[in-house]
Amino acid sequence: MGLPVTIKAFVFDAYGTLYDIQSVAAVTDESFPGYGEVITQVWRMKQLEYTWQRSMMQRYVDFSVVTRESLVYSLKLLGLNYDQAVFDRIMDKYVHLDLYPDAKVALDALKPNKLAILSNGSSDMLGPLVKNTGLDRILDATISIDSERIFKPAPAAYALIEKRLRVQPSEVVFVSSNPFDVVGAKAFGLNVAWIERVTPEAMAAEVKPNAPIYPVTMFKAIRTQMDELGFQPDHRIHTLSELATVV
Ligand code: LAC
Repeated sequence: MGLPVTIKAFVFDAYGTLYDIQSVAAVTDESFPGYGEVITQVWRMKQLEYTWQRSMMQRYVDFSVVTRESLVYSLKLLGLNYDQAVFDRIMDKYVHLDLYPDAKVALDALKPNKLAILSNGSSDMLGPLVKNTGLDRILDATISIDSERIFKPAPAAYALIEKRLRVQPSEVVFVSSNPFDVVGAKAFGLNVAWIERVTPEAMAAEVKPNAPIYPVTMFKAIRTQMDELGFQPDHRIHTLSELATVV
């Protein structure tokens, strides 16, 4: 047994963890009535897939481009025509996403630990988002993977935490609701708290035999349940507020 390690920093994923990515649904549905849900879910699923594809192809473009390309994909597949103003209005929601209701209180409760975001988001997306939502007054750093030109879950992305915050991986609790990110951070060697927003019981209850599956249910099935890749989080909690109990 090693000596007990002191936690010095909490580092958060942004989209889906501090910020409710589903909050784009208001603007997607307003722009294309009746299609909001399918656009919202396909957009997010493709957005993440494009990050993995681009990392593997070694064809990095920043997350704002990935986010635009995946929105184009989502609108095209539905045969929806749009003008630039509509497209830009939907994209603009990315710098005005809703925080999860307990985010600020939960972050405040973790001080005086260092608090930071480590996100696939590019600096030009994260900067305005953090400022618009008041997190600039709470966070010590907002770290974009942009400088490494490779997306999470690549190890080089997680290595930025030590470089920027000057803390060892063992002194960090990394917090994410995204299973791919939890697995990536764990494989890298961080302590990881998983915000399990959809329990296996709730997931299973949403799928009925021979019944149609809504896009949001498919999203939950693909992107909210723990991956079978041989890595498990150190802490499994359901809300950001529970973080204060993990140390
Ligand atoms: C992020 C996305 C991947 O904030 O959730 O990094």
